[in-house]
Amino acid sequence: MTAGDPAPAVHADAPPPADPFVLARAWLPADDDPERPRVTLSTIGEDGYPDARTVLLSAFDESGFAFHTARASRKVAELAAVPRASIVVLWPDHGRQLLVRGDVVPDDEAAAAAAWAARPEYLRQLAWLNTEELAALPLAERVGRWAGFRAALDGPADSWVGYRLRPIELTFWAASARTASRRLQYLRAGAGWRCRPLPG
Ligand SMILES: Cc1cc2nc3c(=O)[nH]c(=O)nc-3n(C[C@H](O)[C@H](O)[C@H](O)COP(=O)(O)O)c2cc1C
Repeated sequence: MTAGDPAPAVHADAPPPADPFVLARAWLPADDDPERPRVTLSTIGEDGYPDARTVLLSAFDESGFAFHTARASRKVAELAAVPRASIVVLWPDHGRQLLVRGDVVPDDEAAAAAAWAARPEYLRQLAWLNTEELAALPLAERVGRWAGFRAALDGPADSWVGYRLRPIELTFWAASARTASRRLQYLRAGAGWRCRPLPG
């Protein structure tokens, strides 16, 4: 990676990789990296308006992009109604962006357990305590409940649920200091992918 082109593959004259996961793996941290990417997850609201929020990307591979959340959350109800979503990853220097759109399926139990084990203790406790009931309490009681929490954190919370976004599209956006930003859009085509450059 050079200072002028934060993501050379997107700007290169050479043919891009046929498999978008080659690029995704070059851009995203490995699954065992404790620093998880923060992604904007968009769903279709039950009222028909788009909905969005930040979640951690737990893991990804050719089967999809995994995220985890609370069973009682709004996104879970929305995904039950319309199992489609997108995620956007923005790199901190604003030089790169990745959009993934696709269908959402439940994550398998082994992957959900692995994501749970990789979460820091604070987030595991949060998964147990992050309820509407707690949110409605005054601050002193919320602090007391947090300090007094005693459940084991070694297994997934009852509320813990995982999903995998199976892409139909991956679009890689890259800035350039020397020319216009540019995108590479991969659309699923049968068993493979069709790739084309787009303006940034
Ligand atoms: C940096 C950051 C990371 C977050 N990670 C998650 C996450 O991995 N899973 C999750 O359910 N909520 C996460 N949240 C909270 C969500 O943004 C959101 O408030 C919550 O999931 C409820 O969303 P919903 O009502 O749209 O379902 C995170 C928030 C921030 C700011």
